[in-house]
Amino acid sequence: MRTPPTATVPRAARTVTVLTALTLSVTLAACGQSGDGGSKEKKSGGKGSTIGIAMPTKSSERWIADGKNMAAEFKKLGYKTNLQYGEDDVDQQVSQIENMITKGVDVLVVAAIDGRALSDVLHQAGEQGIKVISYDRLILGTPDVDYYASFDNKKVGELQAGYILDKLGLKSGSEKGPFNIELFAGSPDDNNTRYFFQGAWEALKPYIDKKQLVVRSKQTKLDQITTLRWDGGTAQKRMDDLLTSAYSSAQVDAVLSPYDGISIGVISSLKSDGYGTGSKPYPVVTGQDAEVASVKSIIAGQQTQTVYKDTRALAKQAVQMADAVLNDKKPEVNDTKTYNNEKKVVPAFLLDPVSVDKSNYRAQLVDSGYIKASDLR
Ligand code: GAL
Repeated sequence: MRTPPTATVPRAARTVTVLTALTLSVTLAACGQSGDGGSKEKKSGGKGSTIGIAMPTKSSERWIADGKNMAAEFKKLGYKTNLQYGEDDVDQQVSQIENMITKGVDVLVVAAIDGRALSDVLHQAGEQGIKVISYDRLILGTPDVDYYASFDNKKVGELQAGYILDKLGLKSGSEKGPFNIELFAGSPDDNNTRYFFQGAWEALKPYIDKKQLVVRSKQTKLDQITTLRWDGGTAQKRMDDLLTSAYSSAQVDAVLSPYDGISIGVISSLKSDGYGTGSKPYPVVTGQDAEVASVKSIIAGQQTQTVYKDTRALAKQAVQMADAVLNDKKPEVNDTKTYNNEKKVVPAFLLDPVSVDKSNYRAQLVDSGYIKASDLR
């Protein structure tokens, strides 16, 4: 806010000017507006502020839980929330965020459907001083993202690949093999996809190079193996095609799947092809998110593994970040190098993912209260 040059203003008038300026700024702050035509000063803080939460879809349990957990945590601290789900429709998510900005939210927490589609709408947020926290998935190509709360995404892929190697007995210089493996990756517009795959690929590649692992379809490049919007049906169709084209005279020993919804699609395809019997056992199939359907599938001996990411802890981190920025404090971060969104390195707090299979699902998921024992019956 501009004040007239003090040298030319008499003392009494100066006091009035200062008081007026103070009153104006207090009033504007109370309204949650900045007083200089939109420079970045919005910070209402504390009780009564509203947090806009934009989640990608309700088609997966985890996002429902993420939204619910965040809303509950924010409420405990006295904040209001505006929680919206974009149902995997990019335009819908953009207009939901636009609406939140129009309604005057104080902070945005966003799990993007398409990581590159939010630059314009987040520019509006930036102009109004609304801080943006990128949730689970990094928002790309915009300077208007302030913090990132997620898991160690590369480690997710390492856990999946490490599990496959372990189950096939391929660790520690063993000569075993060759085993047949097929690779699946997540949605091409989700930044996490390349981190998951990079982690997995780096672990698998030495064994592919030594031909102890063989990808009969020859589809090993990320753009050949992605699954738009993480859709299980799309993965099922691709697995059908792979089985027809590359496995008429061979069996699949392992499938790298980055997400439970994809694993369920892959397993349906395998089942229709006769897998799951004594002479044709299910391959090792990985996953991610510890969704109830997949944990049941693990107990039933179909899916083999999943990666558990405690969404309760993630929600708490995002809430901690929002609360800090609204109260002029620095959010806690533990990574200031890894996540370059092409405009800036976004300071992040990364949580630890955990590999879960039949041997530890009870301790990790049930005893921790993440899944109710009754939901697994
Ligand atoms: C990713 C997320 C995964 C999984 C997937 C599909 O961005 O990190 O945990 O939920 O989306 O929803």
